Amino acid sequence: MRTVITYGTFDLFHQGHYNILKRAKEEGDYLIVGVTGETYDMERGKLSVQDSLATRIENVQNTGFADKIIVEEYLGQKISDILKYHVDVLVIGSDWKGKFDHLRKYCEVKYLERTKNISSTQIREEKLNIYKCGIATTELYDHDIFYETHTVSSIHLQSVFSPDEKNAKEFAEKYELESGYSDYDKFLDDIDIVIVKMPRDVRYEYVKKALEKGKHVVTDMPATMDSKKQQELHALAEEKGVLLYANIVTLYQQAFGQLLWMARGNLIGDIINVKCSVSQNAFDENSKVDLIDLAYYPVCVITKILGFDSENVISKIVKDENGNDVFASISFAFDNATANVEIGTGVELDGTMTITGSEGEIYVPEDWWRMGYFKYRNKGELRAKHYSSNFDGNGYRYLIQAVVNDIKQNNTKSERITNEEAEAILKVLKEI
Ligand code: CTP
Repeated sequence: MRTVITYGTFDLFHQGHYNILKRAKEEGDYLIVGVTGETYDMERGKLSVQDSLATRIENVQNTGFADKIIVEEYLGQKISDILKYHVDVLVIGSDWKGKFDHLRKYCEVKYLERTKNISSTQIREEKLNIYKCGIATTELYDHDIFYETHTVSSIHLQSVFSPDEKNAKEFAEKYELESGYSDYDKFLDDIDIVIVKMPRDVRYEYVKKALEKGKHVVTDMPATMDSKKQQELHALAEEKGVLLYANIVTLYQQAFGQLLWMARGNLIGDIINVKCSVSQNAFDENSKVDLIDLAYYPVCVITKILGFDSENVISKIVKDENGNDVFASISFAFDNATANVEIGTGVELDGTMTITGSEGEIYVPEDWWRMGYFKYRNKGELRAKHYSSNFDGNGYRYLIQAVVNDIKQNNTKSERITNEEAEAILKVLKEI
């Protein structure tokens, strides 16, 4: 008996899928089809798969070609499948040509020609509403947003606004965008979502105008240092039924969601202390985040974990001989917990986070603001458990995906930072 194996996502099942399964079956007597699991697709950066795993399996089954269907759950599973099922030949479409040659040690590998002019990606794009997105910036540098938005299939970054016409044109040309505007109104008329990356002193104006025009907004934080204006923006977004999203990538990461749930869900007992550090040099050197922009991250995360009723905040900034900020420390006193934040603008800090509870500890060993994994240890246990989820790029894609999902589901109430939290964060930033 000749055993054949093939793999795929088989999203939005189409003729190309049917053809390859048919030909795969013809290669032998027994066909095993590996359908990618949801987590594995996420990990591979395939964030836009439409059909559930169950539907994709059902569609493969309905062809009648598969004798056995398995789920592909991790990178490297193919070798173990080949050995386990005594596979004679692995069959895959020609788009993968050369990519599986390393498996020739274990079985025959055959690349079959792809069916022309059809793919899941193509169908997704035809079916989906594509949201038009623009970036408002004064810089000539896009902080990888261009690349990151490309990984989310229902969004198209098409234009840029800069108050300086030359800048706008140059930016558009550099990133091959359709248009570069120096007229903010015209720019807004052309898009559904605007990414506001403007200097802090003018951010509010740009955010407000976009909201007034009924556009969804993703803004650098803080959008304003004035709490009245901040409330006004929240109210305006609500009134217009649009989303106002904070560009704090941490909030949109799966691992952070899990950490938050574990910390707040009493899994490590009562929280006693949260300690974290962050330094500027861990961010893209072109991103020009200053002390306040940088402080937003840890202050936001502390507020998420411990709440917004800190009784006392003490902060201290250390400057160099030229008067530039080098380091800042912020201490929070809550009713029965404390938090310490260290921010380095002129020194390098380790970027770790430790949440100490009465019954255990959560530890993020590096770059907690773009969290891929964390460790969790219960009191008395020798070994820590690891929680991980894949983290690709600079994290922006997860934010964009969340925005798109919320728009699609008309979920305008999905606030990642509530009004109260935003207020509390601002209060601390003012303290600094
Ligand atoms: N396939 C094919 N012809 C097509 C599309 C896919 O032969 N027109 C094959 C692929 O080469 C692969 C299998 O079908 O062996 C499953 O591919 P999958 O990645 O699920 O389908 P795509 O349509 O390529 O999906 P996407 O656009 O999301 O990459």
